[in-house]
Amino acid sequence: RFSKVPKGPEDAILGVTVAYNNDTNPNKINLGVGAYRDDLGLPFVLSAVREAEYRILDRKPHMEYLPVAGSAMFIDKAIRLAYGTNAFVDSGCVAAVQTLSGTGACRMAGVLMDRFLDGGSRDSKPLVLLPNPSWANHRPIFLDAGCDVDSYAYYDPATKSLDFDGCIKSLSDAPAGSVVLLHACAHNPTGVDPSLEQWREISAVLKAKGHLPLFDMAYQGFTSGDMDTDAASLRLFVEDGHRIVLAQSFSKNFGLYGQRVGCLSVLTDSEEETSAINSQLKIIARPMYSNPPIAGVRLVEEILGDAELEKSWRSEMRDMALRIISMRATLKNNLSELGSVHNWDHIMNQHGMFCFSGLTKEQVDDLRERHSVYLTANGRISMAGVTSKNAQYLAEAVHDVTK
Ligand code: LMR
Repeated sequence: RFSKVPKGPEDAILGVTVAYNNDTNPNKINLGVGAYRDDLGLPFVLSAVREAEYRILDRKPHMEYLPVAGSAMFIDKAIRLAYGTNAFVDSGCVAAVQTLSGTGACRMAGVLMDRFLDGGSRDSKPLVLLPNPSWANHRPIFLDAGCDVDSYAYYDPATKSLDFDGCIKSLSDAPAGSVVLLHACAHNPTGVDPSLEQWREISAVLKAKGHLPLFDMAYQGFTSGDMDTDAASLRLFVEDGHRIVLAQSFSKNFGLYGQRVGCLSVLTDSEEETSAINSQLKIIARPMYSNPPIAGVRLVEEILGDAELEKSWRSEMRDMALRIISMRATLKNNLSELGSVHNWDHIMNQHGMFCFSGLTKEQVDDLRERHSVYLTANGRISMAGVTSKNAQYLAEAVHDVTK
């Protein structure tokens, strides 16, 4: 019955890890997936997370089902982490569910919009505008959820920074009432974030056009090292009176990748609207996965419910961001010491986990084939995989393919 199934391609990001795992070169480096590594290049479990795990285990917790919407305590803490002390949080005007990390949050948002955006009365599907470029998974997520997907200008390859005028123009030219996906900070894949002043202008255009802001916040903490500073864009939109859809991931900032911890929230106009949206989010979740996993959210609850653990987590989160920044400086320095004639300022100017290197697909292939250095085909470098030990080898390899 399945004899006609065509073989599909490997995933643009996770497929890089598959290829890396098959490489026998002892010097190989995986700079594909955005997953933090310590300075020895090893997966990193934050000590606050480990401590929380021990404390929870000591209590011999049950393993019963969570409610369909997930843990209410986790959802409350997640929302406060994103929106801060904004009065909205306590107004009863936030609908939210625990999700299978950021991907699950985006997918749930897509289905919710497909079914109900503007009363669900549209003749056509909701149109989700993604920045060009965006995370490779965004497009299939929203297409599979039943939305239409298009893009808006964002990155200028010539300056390796934000194409602000292009961005404002394409958001102004887009059909009124579109959904605009915004990376709250540490844009993936470019590492290019608007300034606060530019966010203000983006907010004004969205308001004028009646666009719905859909924030994807997968890297809160990774631009500045500070959770509140990195939420400034989102909070500015709240102050500007937008009704927002927010997808949060706790994979990177708590290092909970495989635990699948996330949250989808929707700002509403009334408690009735909140309650209706909450009911529909449960109706979407139940036939898909019944109810979300319990282990990861317990860790977040434990950490954010204990002042000492929270302090330790915030400081380790900051250390992760700072280590990445120091690796940016090392890589740039190494390239200039090797005599590279190219301008590598963008390694320092871009933020968060990624550097959008500007390397071409051919150079990326060359890096993999001749140096066993693995990047995604778009030239994105996961700076989290750069270490004091491999930074020189990496610089030599990059210099070699860009001579
Ligand atoms: C990435 O962009 O590398 C991460 O968000 C991991 C993923 O799932 O793609």
